[in-house]
Amino acid sequence: MSKPKVFVTRIIPDKGLDLVKDFCNAEVWAGDLPPSREELINHVRGMDGLLCLLTDKIDSKVMDAAGSQLKVISNFAVGFDNIDVNAATARKISIGNTPDVLTNSTADFAFTLMLSVGRRVLEGDRYVREGKWQTWSPMHLLGVELKDTTLGLVGFGRIGKAMARRAMGFDMRVIYYDPSESKYDTDLKATQVDLETLFKESDFISLHTPLTPATRHLIDTEALAKMKQSAVLVNTARGPVVDMDALYEALKAKRIFAAGLDVTEPEPLSADHPLLTLDNVVIVPHIASATKTARDKMAWLAAKNLIAGLKGEHLPNCVNPQVYK
Ligand code: DGY
Repeated sequence: MSKPKVFVTRIIPDKGLDLVKDFCNAEVWAGDLPPSREELINHVRGMDGLLCLLTDKIDSKVMDAAGSQLKVISNFAVGFDNIDVNAATARKISIGNTPDVLTNSTADFAFTLMLSVGRRVLEGDRYVREGKWQTWSPMHLLGVELKDTTLGLVGFGRIGKAMARRAMGFDMRVIYYDPSESKYDTDLKATQVDLETLFKESDFISLHTPLTPATRHLIDTEALAKMKQSAVLVNTARGPVVDMDALYEALKAKRIFAAGLDVTEPEPLSADHPLLTLDNVVIVPHIASATKTARDKMAWLAAKNLIAGLKGEHLPNCVNPQVYK
């Protein structure tokens, strides 16, 4: 019997790619950059499965270009806002994602950003590199410390909870906003609050929500105005959750203390973006899940989802289980 045909839109770790190549007739996009829209549409034609990245926009046009034999779209990411889920469900195409396996790497990184932004690590590094370091100074590069401060988590799913666990080790008080999590979590000593309270009471605010119409620009001028002047904002979720123009104005006017962004709108962010003229922001290129451990597991899980879909089985992690009805 001939193997199912799949398009893999980028080289992923062998832990997953080897599985895909064993089971499928795989065409793998070898470029360092994602395929363009035209290239994606051309390469997806006639495929039974698609293993894609968050950089690939998978909408009805792409699905129709593939053809009615397309059974499964496996995203090499936990977030799936790059995929039109309704269009896939209408076509009975199952969608897989990779939750859990990047929880720790992402929470570690959000914490890294909190600490490095709060303690001005990159400013200090630039200061030394620029040859400005002349002496130890009592008032120079003062930051904020974590003990007895309040961490506000917007989103209390797996990564939000992993943040709460880390925060407990730093003696922080944890509050969270998550309309889908109604119970008070005694285990984690985290208290649910409304968004307004979270903005007002938090010293550190970390975003862990998916990108949906309700969370797009959740952090806007109004939200930033409610935060403490000493607040540190960290975004490892999705860029468009924050209104970048509003953030620029708030940071420039020192309305809040600082921000650490793993994700931006757009991505990539151009090097001449106004935010990059400011000292009180650290921006990195969407690397919160970038550990070998996490990326190997993401590749493995994405491959498992793809293969299950091709076999007509339930995906280990399916974001649109309605397709099974
Ligand atoms: C995801 O999996 O959604 C992450 O953003 C990748 O780092």
